[in-house]
Amino acid sequence: MKNVVLLGPPGAGKGTVAARLARAFGLLHVSTGDMLREEVAQNTPLGQLAKGYMARGELVPDEVILSMVRQRVDAKKGVLFDGFPRTLAQAEGLERFTHVDLVVFLEVDREEVVRRLSSRRVCAQCGAIYNLLTQPPKVEGKCDLCGGALVQREDDKPEVVARRFEVYMRDSAPLIAYYEARGILRRVRADRSPDEVFQAVAEVLRA
Ligand code: AP5
Repeated sequence: MKNVVLLGPPGAGKGTVAARLARAFGLLHVSTGDMLREEVAQNTPLGQLAKGYMARGELVPDEVILSMVRQRVDAKKGVLFDGFPRTLAQAEGLERFTHVDLVVFLEVDREEVVRRLSSRRVCAQCGAIYNLLTQPPKVEGKCDLCGGALVQREDDKPEVVARRFEVYMRDSAPLIAYYEARGILRRVRADRSPDEVFQAVAEVLRA
């Protein structure tokens, strides 16, 4: 059983590869972005708090995130963390309730992630991820898996994407050195096809 963190800039392909890896390796997929979007959709108190931060491309406060993740983690199953931790405080908080065995850093440049995010579409019903350029649905505007409507994420607007990238560089990029110093970081080039990225990450997980 392994606890794995997927690290990378917005649009690196974390969600795309995580869903497939979780199925292949029997890991619990914990995506803080998906959990927060669910809270917003249900208009819970947590969703109401998170909504504004997410719409601006800012991070939701660390203590809120840590308590949400702590409730989700199941000690009996390996976990694949996607989009978490995102700050040094979150990484330290995580170590207080579980360990991290491996961190996979998806490397891709800014120009490519901007292109990916501007053409991303997600299913409003089940959250499946598509891309108009690289991973289009079989029927335009409809999810292949559940037939739900495909929509553009609010935070994929160019001005919000720019802010998310700045926040990533300021708050999340320092985690690369943090995990590298612990000897558990592996780098995987993510500027290739989703299938190639999946195979490369799977190889790291099997090693
Ligand atoms: P979150 O949902 O986690 O957003 P993110 O980290 O910015 O990552 P994305 O979901 O945008 O991208 P991704 O890397 O998953 O890429 P994807 O697979 O979709 O967080 C959203 C917000 O919630 C944050 O801004 C913050 O406010 C809040 N939040 C979440 N977690 C938090 C935390 N821990 N602390 C505080 N706040 C938090 O792929 C992108 C596109 O590219 C898709 O169209 C896909 O089809 C395509 N694609 C994927 N792989 C490839 C490939 N290899 N080649 C070509 N296209 C590809």
